[in-house]
Amino acid sequence: MIRLIKPHPDYLESVLKGIEEYESDTTAFHMIRPVHDMIEAKHNHFKDYFNRLNNEENGINLQPNHVKQTTFWLLDDDQYVGTIALRHHLTPMLRQSGGHIAYQVIPSKRRKGYMTIGLKLCLDEAAKLGLDTVLVTCQEGNIASYKTMHRVMVQMGGYEDTPSDFDGHQVRRVWISCPKGDN
Ligand SMILES: CC(C)(COP(=O)(O)OP(=O)(O)OC[C@H]1O[C@@H](n2cnc3c(N)ncnc32)[C@H](O)[C@@H]1OP(=O)(O)O)[C@@H](O)C(=O)NCCC(=O)NCCS
Repeated sequence: MIRLIKPHPDYLESVLKGIEEYESDTTAFHMIRPVHDMIEAKHNHFKDYFNRLNNEENGINLQPNHVKQTTFWLLDDDQYVGTIALRHHLTPMLRQSGGHIAYQVIPSKRRKGYMTIGLKLCLDEAAKLGLDTVLVTCQEGNIASYKTMHRVMVQMGGYEDTPSDFDGHQVRRVWISCPKGDN
């Protein structure tokens, strides 16, 4: 079963294998900060990592211009396959680039449909926070990310916004509807 969980020490063995893959990946178009944080945790201390995630989710000691964020690990049965971070709301900067959701899959599990499912599971989590729609962004040229967000947008509803010009890059921006219901 494919599911999202809040990061938990029970899965560290599998996560450490994933981190090894991230570290030796030269193909990634982009490394998201939540994955960078996992790599840092491997070299420092996972206890600090778990504390930091808890603080980020609860708005404690946030860095300037950062918003509350919940990080999830995407598991297939008990195997770690990716990381997703959900920001609870947008700032003017996140509207231009970054959006609500950041995602990354370990290289050996890409193009198997994992993030299509992961992103949809994350929409359920966004709905629980009261969000009706989420913004997902990627740099122009990140075909894998664009196709993932676009595919989920077609399935769930939403629209593609005008690209933004951010930090010298064109950024594609897609709004995706969250499921409705009594979450
Ligand atoms: C973006 C990413 C998370 C996609 O995860 P994934 O699990 O491989 O995606 P899926 O298998 O669900 O694929 C979804 C769609 O993207 C397409 N796709 C995935 N990787 C692709 C690639 N390298 N080239 C072209 N299309 C690709 C799939 O074919 C599918 O499209 P389809 O509906 O037309 O068949 C993954 O490529 C990744 O981790 N990239 C590095 C980190 C990154 O760029 N994160 C996003 C930052 S904005």
